[in-house]
Amino acid sequence: MSDKKFYVTTPIYYVNDKPHIGHAYTTILADVLARYHKEDGQETFFLTGLDEHGQKVQQAAEKRGMAPQEHCDDLAPRFIQLWKKLNIENSDFIRTTEPRHKEVVQKILQQVYDNGDIYSAEYEGWYSVSEERFITSTEKDSGEFRDIKQLKEKNYFFRMGKYQQKLIDHINDNPDFICPESRKNEILGFLRQPLGDLCVSRPKDRLNWGIELTFDKDYVTYVWFDALINYISAIGYLSDDAKFKKWWPHSLHLIGKDILTTHSVYWTTMLFSLGLPLPKKIFAHGWWLIGESKMSKSLGNVVSPLDLVDEYGVDAVRYYLMSQMVLGQDCSFTFESFITRFNNDLANDFGNLLNRVSGLIRKNFDGVVPACGQLSDADKEIVDLTGQTEKEIACAVDKLEIHTAVASTLRLVSMANKYLEHQAPWKVAKEDLKRAGTILYVATEALRIATLHLVPIMPSKTKVVLDVLRAVGSDTKWGGLRSGSVLEAHDALFPRLELSKE
Ligand code: ME8
Ligand code: MG
Repeated sequence: MSDKKFYVTTPIYYVNDKPHIGHAYTTILADVLARYHKEDGQETFFLTGLDEHGQKVQQAAEKRGMAPQEHCDDLAPRFIQLWKKLNIENSDFIRTTEPRHKEVVQKILQQVYDNGDIYSAEYEGWYSVSEERFITSTEKDSGEFRDIKQLKEKNYFFRMGKYQQKLIDHINDNPDFICPESRKNEILGFLRQPLGDLCVSRPKDRLNWGIELTFDKDYVTYVWFDALINYISAIGYLSDDAKFKKWWPHSLHLIGKDILTTHSVYWTTMLFSLGLPLPKKIFAHGWWLIGESKMSKSLGNVVSPLDLVDEYGVDAVRYYLMSQMVLGQDCSFTFESFITRFNNDLANDFGNLLNRVSGLIRKNFDGVVPACGQLSDADKEIVDLTGQTEKEIACAVDKLEIHTAVASTLRLVSMANKYLEHQAPWKVAKEDLKRAGTILYVATEALRIATLHLVPIMPSKTKVVLDVLRAVGSDTKWGGLRSGSVLEAHDALFPRLELSKE
């Protein structure tokens, strides 16, 4: 048991967009981390939700002839249902159109206005309609922005520039604050230029689907100033002090690298202005790519997580996403790699180990888990490997290297399969049933322990295995498998896939 607390967040996704593998990835990653920390005895809070204000939502609603709220209410279930289908166990789900969020945003705006960090000014500059923000001339020339136009209007600005040095100092004093290292350097590079102030308002005649400014009813709040606040409005900031103190600032913000600047620069300086501590860590992961390009709605190259789940099952999808991507780097999604991973790891290794031990125990011991006798050196190697695996996983999870945690666990599974081949209990049983029993106990116990380590990744299939083994509790200490229990019958865990199926 530990008294450490773990608060993990995903971006709140745009309600307008159809969720794809990219959104599913961040959310599954948060879920897996929360589950590992829970298994470790830590109190955890896992937040996800939806970003529902802004021009794009307003326009999409208009197109459908709907009120924006009605449009959001109609679309929100696509995410909620997908998370359910993906076995996501979030603690809360925040929508920025909820009163509990809007109230906090307005209180914060007033507070920042009162302390002098928001001022009004006439501004003329380049505006990206697709990104819904003013951009610098460097950004304009970068070619990364679409729908750019020149705009001149009165607006309200947040004195972001004032906190530039404080932010640089914080990043330098906390080397693990922005991860991975390359992203930290990107932000430090960005902060070498003078940091401008942030336009935090939109005139209502241009956009009215937003949170009204308390100090000027003709304006609504810029969508990012609104959205980022979800990380604290959901945990009771200005509404439930005890809850807020409990979770803030123990937070890990998981994001994709597309929204690194808004999190590392906008959000942090907003928190400085509020006099709040910064989150513990911001981790920006890489892209899921299709070929060379980012999977994204605008490119129309998205893979639907629902289709994958319907075809291959939720655990296979979670397993693939977690094992395939090295956190922080980009990764190509291909059906070929999906099927290869499925067949190699899940069918041939994990599923096969279950099949073999349960088949052999059924054949030689009437399905009753045999007693464990004296351990040989080969047996002890497996016992030692379980201890080593546990340590590696703890270390990997601490560094958010889920692919490493999975690889360690799968090595244990694969070693248990090799052990069975070498020990050949089917031969030993003919002369020394007791020894055959010990071998099968060792292999089955290794399977039980490996399965427990995979629970955060594959909550449903691991439950099947643990039920077959009649395993109780989640203790990964050697010897938890109970001799004398009768194994339950089961189907093949992950029947092999043929590539042609795609
Ligand atoms: O940016 N690969 O929402 P969003 C990996 N509402 N991850 C991907 C991905 C890909 N190809 N595509 C999307 C927003 N993602 C704002 C956030 S937070 C206060 C407001 C994931 O719907 C990744 O986590 O565009 C990325 O950061 C997020 O979806 C963007 O989701
Ligand atoms: Mg986006």
